[in-house]
Amino acid sequence: MIQFKIDITFINREKEMAELQNYLEGRPNSILFLHGPKSSGKTTLMYQLFEQMEAKKGYEINFLNLREIFLTSYDDFIDAFFKSSSSEKGLKTGTRRQYSLFGLFKLDAFTEKMLKKRQEDPFLVMKREFQRLVKKGIQPVVIIDEFHKLDGLYLPDKQKRLMVELMNFFVAMTKESHLCHVIIASSDAFFIEQVYVDSKLRKTSEFMKLDYLEKDDVFAWLRDIKKYNQVQEYTLDEEQIKIIWDTVGGSAWEIYYILGKLFQYSIDAITAKIKREKVAMIADWTFDDKARNCLLRHFRKQPIRKLTELAGTGKDLLGQAVKDNILYYDPVDGIYGIQGKSLEWGIKGYFEETETDVLFAKNTRLFK
Ligand SMILES: Nc1ncnc2c1ncn2[C@@H]1O[C@H](COP(=O)(O)OP(=O)(O)OP(=O)(O)O)[C@@H](O)[C@H]1O
Ligand SMILES: [Mg+2]
Repeated sequence: MIQFKIDITFINREKEMAELQNYLEGRPNSILFLHGPKSSGKTTLMYQLFEQMEAKKGYEINFLNLREIFLTSYDDFIDAFFKSSSSEKGLKTGTRRQYSLFGLFKLDAFTEKMLKKRQEDPFLVMKREFQRLVKKGIQPVVIIDEFHKLDGLYLPDKQKRLMVELMNFFVAMTKESHLCHVIIASSDAFFIEQVYVDSKLRKTSEFMKLDYLEKDDVFAWLRDIKKYNQVQEYTLDEEQIKIIWDTVGGSAWEIYYILGKLFQYSIDAITAKIKREKVAMIADWTFDDKARNCLLRHFRKQPIRKLTELAGTGKDLLGQAVKDNILYYDPVDGIYGIQGKSLEWGIKGYFEETETDVLFAKNTRLFK
């Protein structure tokens, strides 16, 4: 087996895990919507929860990560949500467990055929499965990651948005029938909220935020990368740890990136490159676009803004900024924030450069 010179680790999410456990231990009564900025660790936390709950008796966890699935039609949705028992035959026991991560509900060949021929209602099939489990004393749990990927799909003939229908179905399964727990994860809370508004689903869900790692946890991690990541070749001093925190904050993915590069480059070279990349990213996103420039200018000195402070910015533009992972939307507090500390540097650097350019242009005109 390969011995990696740096390994991944899982840093403290005790509080969040306890909140999820608490949700699962109550009788189903609402959808839990897990949101958080790009790469805050939502999927990782869901996998951890999946493993913990699988070890417990009495729960049937169905986990569907839509990022791994090709979804462009209603048939793709059926394939993603339902797996026929025949498709599992022939798989080795080891792969079978893994396979069951892809596809929520097992089907017999007949139901599968009826579903494919559209003579069976997928929502009824799901409900029957929940009822069957509950009768056996098993609590079903559905976890769907990257839920926003269902956007653009419609039910056959009816021209109904699949996503909205699915949400309505989950409301019926949680708040009304108390049959099943449903956890939905997405980094696009703006979009999900639009679905809520459209389908009058408010007051049917709890929102749970997963933010980047906290400062104390990051410092404790980086003070002991030998223990957490099996790094033998170097250690980090307080000054270096502070530079990492100042550059990327608690974004675990970016911290790994820096740790990986430190085998070869200096901390200053790595963080300077990260900042330059982010400036380029902001320059690209705002290129020749006054409205986008104007929007990001609000975040120059402050990484978080209330909706009222962004008056004049169209909702469409805000939605696009969230979709493009520039801004992050928190539906509980109704605030918009920059997606991560490194992007804050990008915005700061971009406006500094633009202003220097304007000054330079003015000066050259003066001296002409
Ligand atoms: N608690 C943690 N401790 C250490 N590393 C973590 C932790 N949580 C996540 N990571 C790392 O951070 C990276 C991003 O995590 P993940 O993909 O789970 O985020 P996400 O919120 O699902 O992202 P996206 O918004 O793209 O869906 C991964 O490389 C993961 O290994
Ligand atoms: Mg994810």
